[in-house]
Amino acid sequence: MINDQLSRNFKYLRISITDKCNYRCSYCMPKDIFGKDHQFLQKKELLTYEEIIEVVKILKRYGLEKVRLTGGEPMLRKNIELLIKGLKDEALVNQVSITTNGSLLDHDKIRLLKTNGLDAITISLDSLSQDTTDELNPTNNNIPKVLSSIDSALKIFGTLKINMVVIKNKNSHEIIDMVKKFLHKNIELRFIEYMDVGESNNWDYENVFTSKENIDLIKEYYSMSKIVVTKDSTSEKWQLDKYPLSIGFISSISKPFCSNCNRGRLSADGKFYTCLFSDAGYDFAGYIRNKNLSLGEYFEKIWLERNDQYSQLRFTKKIIKNKKNKVEMSYIGG
Ligand code: GTP
Ligand code: 5AD
Ligand code: SF4
Ligand code: SF4
Repeated sequence: MINDQLSRNFKYLRISITDKCNYRCSYCMPKDIFGKDHQFLQKKELLTYEEIIEVVKILKRYGLEKVRLTGGEPMLRKNIELLIKGLKDEALVNQVSITTNGSLLDHDKIRLLKTNGLDAITISLDSLSQDTTDELNPTNNNIPKVLSSIDSALKIFGTLKINMVVIKNKNSHEIIDMVKKFLHKNIELRFIEYMDVGESNNWDYENVFTSKENIDLIKEYYSMSKIVVTKDSTSEKWQLDKYPLSIGFISSISKPFCSNCNRGRLSADGKFYTCLFSDAGYDFAGYIRNKNLSLGEYFEKIWLERNDQYSQLRFTKKIIKNKKNKVEMSYIGG
């Protein structure tokens, strides 16, 4: 166990395995910025699966229990099941999960991920309407395919999480449609407040549909009760009283959860970030590739000095002055 400057331990690593994505969500990789000329990482810059497993093995000594694979779109990286197997069988990680847009999955692939040790899956789905989807996720979207992935994941894992990023007047009027769609399923539907990640999504507080607004809206239609969650959870959870569906609210804007943030992030090219809103990372790739350096000691020093709490300080002058070049969500991994 190791504690940072705000007495937060380290338990959870989010690993981006590619910065590429087949989608261009307006809130993450707007298509006019991530166009044909955008320079993604080159294959030779990426950490290999062996290197990722090595990093994880070292971080396990400091309390790491949970790994989430993200991107970009993680399913764009080949043979991801081999990484999952290594994380479970070699690095002995307790929980390995994945967050994906669901468009590149099918029943067999999901089964393969499960047989190789994947513990849980989260699929992003912002709307059931083709028009809204064309606006929010304009390239390669495929609602029927994503719905079919959701069904397969449900069959294979027994449950899953669905993430919907809610943007005021874009898809906020579709919240009840989403709830209705999954009412009878053993799913956790999570509504995420639109966040100011990166520098390219043109974020404005005006576009945030807060969790409070969301909860008030759903309560007009359904009765639900709050569920107790662990204190390091990103979401506040509610159970619908008469249906299997549960609902999560991720309120990074209106109710920041920095005080219990035990998360680190590893980018696809092996930079380690101590916050989603960091502007610079630490060169873990260099350390893992140089046998004369100790990644363990390097990590220990970084975590002991960590004092990030961006969301908590978001609207204070301190942040506005200091944060100029926040890294993009597709690069840092959500
Ligand atoms: P579990 O805790 O395993 O359920 O997953 P998660 O909620 O951390 O992961 P997921 O990939 O589903 O992310 C859901 C949303 O929460 C995304 O919009 C993430 O960017 C956001 N999120 C996850 N971790 C953090 C964090 O440390 N800080 C902030 N501000 N947002 C986060
Ligand atoms: N605000 C909130 N959530 C976001 N995601 C991507 N960009 C943003 C943003 N600006 C979500 C994705 C995915 C998760 C990893 O993060 O939709 O579900
Ligand atoms: Fe791709 Fe996910 Fe970003 Fe959308 S939110 S562009 S699916 S990485
Ligand atoms: Fe953790 Fe940074 Fe998110 Fe706060 S803003 S919860 S410190 S990642």
